[in-house]
Amino acid sequence: MVTPQEILNELKTIAYPGYTRDIVSFGIIRDIEVGTDSVKVSIAPGGARDEAIAEIRAAVETAVRDFTGVDNVEIAIEASQTPVHREPPRRAEIPGVKNVIAVASGKGGVGKSTVAVNLALALHKQGHAVGLLDADVYGPSVPLLLGVSGEGAGTDGDRIQPVHSHGIAAISLGMFIDRGQPVIWRGPMINKLLTQFFREVAWGELDYLVLDLPPGTGDAQLTIAQQAPLAGGVIVTTPQDVALLDVQRGIAMLHQVGAPVLGVVENMSFHICPDCGHRSEIFGHGGGRKMASESDIAFLGEIPLARRIRETSDAGQPIVISEPDGEHAKAFDALATRVRQEVEKAGRLDLPLVN
Ligand SMILES: Nc1ncnc2c1ncn2[C@@H]1O[C@H](COP(=O)(O)OP(=O)(O)OP(=O)(O)O)[C@@H](O)[C@H]1O
Ligand SMILES: [Mg+2]
Repeated sequence: MVTPQEILNELKTIAYPGYTRDIVSFGIIRDIEVGTDSVKVSIAPGGARDEAIAEIRAAVETAVRDFTGVDNVEIAIEASQTPVHREPPRRAEIPGVKNVIAVASGKGGVGKSTVAVNLALALHKQGHAVGLLDADVYGPSVPLLLGVSGEGAGTDGDRIQPVHSHGIAAISLGMFIDRGQPVIWRGPMINKLLTQFFREVAWGELDYLVLDLPPGTGDAQLTIAQQAPLAGGVIVTTPQDVALLDVQRGIAMLHQVGAPVLGVVENMSFHICPDCGHRSEIFGHGGGRKMASESDIAFLGEIPLARRIRETSDAGQPIVISEPDGEHAKAFDALATRVRQEVEKAGRLDLPLVN
């Protein structure tokens, strides 16, 4: 039985119409499902022209059929949610906020929130004004990670005041609800809430606003990413989940909203024994780097799997703050430096966006 990964590799031989780059590195392959005698490929071509879409569809169908011997090949073209920007936005349209950076992943539980919080704090340590917006309305974890649970964010006239913690400004639904209270939100409510988080929070002057996105790459993520022009997205992966396809989904989501992919960070990458300092590669590491190079996107670094990272997060004293000179904090500092470099590049480069 052929695997989605093998099919994806095969699709890398198909050039995007009019470009030398392949359709996979354009990030338009959204999903590949292999059934017993069928294959379904979902494609999100963004704002591509109809002729280009027809050409891609035909090429994918033929390639999959030839490669798998399966006759029943379904190609699903996902409608574009927004026109794809030709130019990556350099300035967010949130007054005073220069760069909005989304932290995303194809899968849940890979450490998005941990990375988002420590990245925000590391950027602050490097001298920047930073905000953190918890866009995960289903499972807000920023209050816990910043140690501000229980304190509500106030309002001041018609503006919402963010909570300040460890030098950064933060807002999260978790600041407005009781803990343990189940949150059942329908799409329109989420939209409204997040719009308020972007537009009605007194963020002040920020160099970076970091978004902690909910897991996955569905409509909610798209909506969120559309709320503000993104300077770019950081995709978090882990070695054991290094399925190229997961990262591809993340890339496709960012491309759909016209946001540059800043790169991939591999979290829980390797383990350093707290007692003897021995480094072990539990899940095998380096997959993130390999995948990034195959997808032609930047590799932003690797964060070790370390009990202290979890413990400090759970205690509301993220490692970047509580053990600033330690090796783990340094990994986040290095990540922040790479992210800044990529944001600067993204502002200049002619990105390979879908035409
Ligand atoms: N590098 C790490 N070392 C040790 N533990 C980690 C590391 N990164 C994350 N964790 C732990 O893994 C768990 C999941 O992390 P986190 O909540 O950041 O993931 P997430 O992707 O935001 O999850 P969700 O999809 O539910 O939002 C947490 O308990 C966190 O403390
Ligand atoms: Mg999270």
